[in-house]
Amino acid sequence: MSRHIPLLAIFLIASIVAWGWFRAPSASNGPAVAPAPAAISPAPTFVEYTTGPASPDGIGKFFHGREIAQVMGHPAIGWLERTEREQEEAPSKAIAAIDLAPDAVLADIGAGSGYYSFRLSEKVPKGRIVAVDIQPEMLDFLRKKSAELGITNVEPHLGTIEDVKLPAASLDAALMVDSYHEFSHPREMLASLRHALKPGGRIFLLEFRGEDPRVPIKPLHKMTEAQARLELESAGFRFVSNLRPLPWQHFMIFERP
Ligand SMILES: C[S@@+](CC[C@H](N)C(=O)[O-])C[C@H]1O[C@@H](n2cnc3c(N)ncnc32)[C@H](O)[C@@H]1O
Repeated sequence: MSRHIPLLAIFLIASIVAWGWFRAPSASNGPAVAPAPAAISPAPTFVEYTTGPASPDGIGKFFHGREIAQVMGHPAIGWLERTEREQEEAPSKAIAAIDLAPDAVLADIGAGSGYYSFRLSEKVPKGRIVAVDIQPEMLDFLRKKSAELGITNVEPHLGTIEDVKLPAASLDAALMVDSYHEFSHPREMLASLRHALKPGGRIFLLEFRGEDPRVPIKPLHKMTEAQARLELESAGFRFVSNLRPLPWQHFMIFERP
């Protein structure tokens, strides 16, 4: 036994030296580590669009490798307003998860028929919902519906394919439900949204889940979380969370630094 003692001692010393070499430094042991810097506002990165053959539902224009989908035309208002929507997509759960101060201003970008705008309007009795769309027919529908419902704090607003056309720092939050993936100029749209949001303003981004083959929506009308993060983070937004209250959609929150 005694002749093994020197060997044992060498083994122990070698183990201690190796552990010191490989371990991550910690505050109590090892060299001092500088504290992590406070979150730095990410600067937007300019990314070129690319083009290629158009898929049946796409426009042949790509952003960060994703083919942009064709815009859903106003004749499909009936699909947006369908009664089964609650059962399929549970929009009431999404609306419950969008927390807004009573005087908040939220832009519903790609508002369509205003399905979300009207339901959110109750949350902001002293604020307003700016319902932005590029199709005047959608805005006509919104105006008629506002009158029918007697709602006065939903403001139809005509944007362009590149610009939300809203003043600087005028928004507390923005919502995009199943619309972002069909923006023909997502880079410009995100830049205009960054301009229109107040610092700390949030984006609620709902998109059909691209990772989930059970979601019965055409592939170009879905997005993965990774793709959405790639596009919004490179546009200078901070990813906050992806809550999972919905059966078909991501419910992602981003923040303008
Ligand atoms: C699939 S619909 C979704 C409507 C609504 N968000 C909903 O979930 O009921 C997409 C809408 O985005 C609009 N849209 C597309 N590109 C846009 C852009 N650059 N700016 C604003 N709206 C846009 C379309 O006109 C269409 O009304």
